[in-house]
Amino acid sequence: MSTMLVTGGAGFIGANFVRLTIERGAADHVVVLDKLTYAGRRDNLAGLDASAVEFVEGDVCDAGLVSSLVARADTVVHFAAESHNDNSLRDPSPFIHTNILGTYTLLEAVRAHDRYLHHISTDEVFGDLGPGDPRFTETTAYAPSSPYSASKASSDHLVRAWVRSFGVRATISNCSNNYGPYQHIEKFIPRQITNILDRRTPKLYGTGEQIRDWIHVDDHNDAVLAILSRGRSGETYNIGSDGEATNRTVIELICDLMGAEGYEHVADRPGHDQRYAMDASKLRTELGWSPRYTGDLRAGLADTIAWYRDNEAWWRPIKDAVEAGYAKRGQ
Ligand code: NAD
Ligand code: DAU
Repeated sequence: MSTMLVTGGAGFIGANFVRLTIERGAADHVVVLDKLTYAGRRDNLAGLDASAVEFVEGDVCDAGLVSSLVARADTVVHFAAESHNDNSLRDPSPFIHTNILGTYTLLEAVRAHDRYLHHISTDEVFGDLGPGDPRFTETTAYAPSSPYSASKASSDHLVRAWVRSFGVRATISNCSNNYGPYQHIEKFIPRQITNILDRRTPKLYGTGEQIRDWIHVDDHNDAVLAILSRGRSGETYNIGSDGEATNRTVIELICDLMGAEGYEHVADRPGHDQRYAMDASKLRTELGWSPRYTGDLRAGLADTIAWYRDNEAWWRPIKDAVEAGYAKRGQ
């Protein structure tokens, strides 16, 4: 019987990953380790068979707990992180704790127990691009801009060092911006969808000319499963689905799909990265992966809007507090 340990499995991408893993039969048993910070919710895993998915509340920096869970697993997939750039600009400390110390703690456990680790990372480690620059590849130099992306870059470096120095078996994936069900409403797309559902005006930072490379969360997780089954230890894989769009285009698409009137320009993010774009050729050619929602942001957004419309009880209780936090910063 195969057991997979998933850290951060009660968050947005992690919870969708656990659901996909069970649906595909990619593991017989999944153990989720999650601290249940403001971003993690036990009910993101609701409806899953309790005999297949075991939940452990705890910190990925707790070495004793992590060691005991890694010992029981064949494979470890590491999603746990502080994930929001805006929060990292207000208080970097939890980003340093979880993203750097947490990855170190996990690496020491997989080293001690000789287990395979897949580390989930982000395109932001590469910094940002100008409009005509070639897309990020696996060999692009790291140049992170925010405390969040610097902490993720640090965690990637730790994984590579443990592979090279200690022979740890590990892979890394760097993915572009995700969207889909269960994404916290502090993030761009669900914030605008719930603004419209709540009769608030959508909020665009600055001019809205920044470009993000959007991928549906199921395509990200499908790529992770491909890496787990066919990836080569020690390798890094970029994940993206050719979804580049300006923030203005995305907000206008959401308004159009939801029949909303307009949006408002608000204070920009300090140090705002201009453009992210992923070249995922290696994943496509070496592992034969391809995304389901490729080039079809409209279809993916329509599904996502329907999810937030149908799951108002999931986001409604936190909406006022999230917006009050943004309002304090003129956003
Ligand atoms: P999220 O904030 O929705 O979820 C993070 C989860 O980690 C939460 O359940 C939280 O409770 C848990 N967590 C936080 N600190 C912890 C700790 N110390 N110990 C145990 N659990 C802890 O984040 P997400 O958007 O689902 O991102 C998941 C991973 O994917 C992160 O590593 C992130 O850097 C990476 N990533 C995200 C995106 C994106 O667009 N969201 C893109 C590429 C990579
Ligand atoms: O690129 C991958 C990264 O994508 C992940 O590593 C991060 O965990 C994830 O949060 C995301 O980072 P971004 O900072 O790109 O995502 P966010 O949803 O915060 O913002 C997307 C863009 O939209 C960004 O240019 C800022 C802008 N924005 C954001 C919000 C919340 C707005 O214009 N209005 C908003 O209200």
